[in-house]
Amino acid sequence: MLRQSLLALSRSERVKHLVTTMPVSAGIVARYVPGESTREAVGVVEELVGSGRQVTLDHLGEDTLEEAHADATVAAYLEVLSALSERGLTQDAEVSVKLSAVGQALPDGGEKVAARNARLICEAARAAGTTVTLDMEDHTTTDSTLRILRELREDFPGTGAVLQAYLYRTEADCRELATEGSRVRLCKGAYDEPEPVAHQTRREVDLAFVRCLRILMEGDGYPMVASHDPRMVEIAGELARRTGRDSSTYEYQMLYGIRPDEQLRLVAEGSTVRVYVPYGQEWYGYLMRRLAERPSNLTFFARSLVSKK
Ligand code: FDA
Repeated sequence: MLRQSLLALSRSERVKHLVTTMPVSAGIVARYVPGESTREAVGVVEELVGSGRQVTLDHLGEDTLEEAHADATVAAYLEVLSALSERGLTQDAEVSVKLSAVGQALPDGGEKVAARNARLICEAARAAGTTVTLDMEDHTTTDSTLRILRELREDFPGTGAVLQAYLYRTEADCRELATEGSRVRLCKGAYDEPEPVAHQTRREVDLAFVRCLRILMEGDGYPMVASHDPRMVEIAGELARRTGRDSSTYEYQMLYGIRPDEQLRLVAEGSTVRVYVPYGQEWYGYLMRRLAERPSNLTFFARSLVSKK
């Protein structure tokens, strides 16, 4: 219930204004979003790479309704890719892109605009020596995102996909994408999805995650296991052993600020770990999804609000 309310608020302009203008937001935001500028983002990448982790950088923003805004997001990606390349970081750092930030949500021809913009980012990533992963947003965008993915992969085969275990369709999508060279991030899913399209209970989502993971691990692609859940991490390791995969054929992914000790433990045991690092000013939707995942964060947030009054 609380999760649904928070996810509904993540799309409220009024609450967005309130939260983003309150200085007390800063503490909890900093836990999940390490900086706003390209310089700060690249600094964090350097630090993470120095500790043996890899990175995928996300320039925050979503649901863009103006083409100029989408263009600015593309420019931010080109800038950060060039900065990563200058610092010699593109072996270990790639970028994640939300298609709705580069035009997919535009009322007129959004898919075309997003495809064109995503292509520009893929070209810059290739020139810099790295890759792009297309984040997955709510279920109304899944078909469009997978169409754009297929198109991009014709020229940029390293483009990563994201699949969300909570959607009923995802097992079939996993089968389709578990092919040679196909990078697929599997996550549980972070949006508030209705019963006709998605599993509703934690248990059902966890079971679906394991079924999807098995398909990906048994397939020929490169699974990217995006979960902080200790059980999912353990099961991924077990499936990798059973399917004879070594640590160069799959990776774990976690979000910046969540279970950093576990990230380092996995690195120490020889696993590949990639940290998803969001940066930029448009952190509101991202933060609300993180709060929805963990009610204790909300208590912390509410307490800091009250104490500032
Ligand atoms: P679960 O929510 O069950 O959490 C397991 C444990 O992890 C918790 O008990 C807690 O210890 C810790 N934890 C989880 N969330 C936390 C939080 N916010 N704060 C503190 N601790 C927390 N989703 C999506 O729809 N589209 C996408 O493109 C992506 N991309 C993506 C990339 C990467 C690298 C990751 C790790 C995740 C995503 N997600 C996503 C988000 C994903 O769908 C999911 O909402 C979160 O990862 C939480 O699910 P867990 O699997 O971590 O399990």
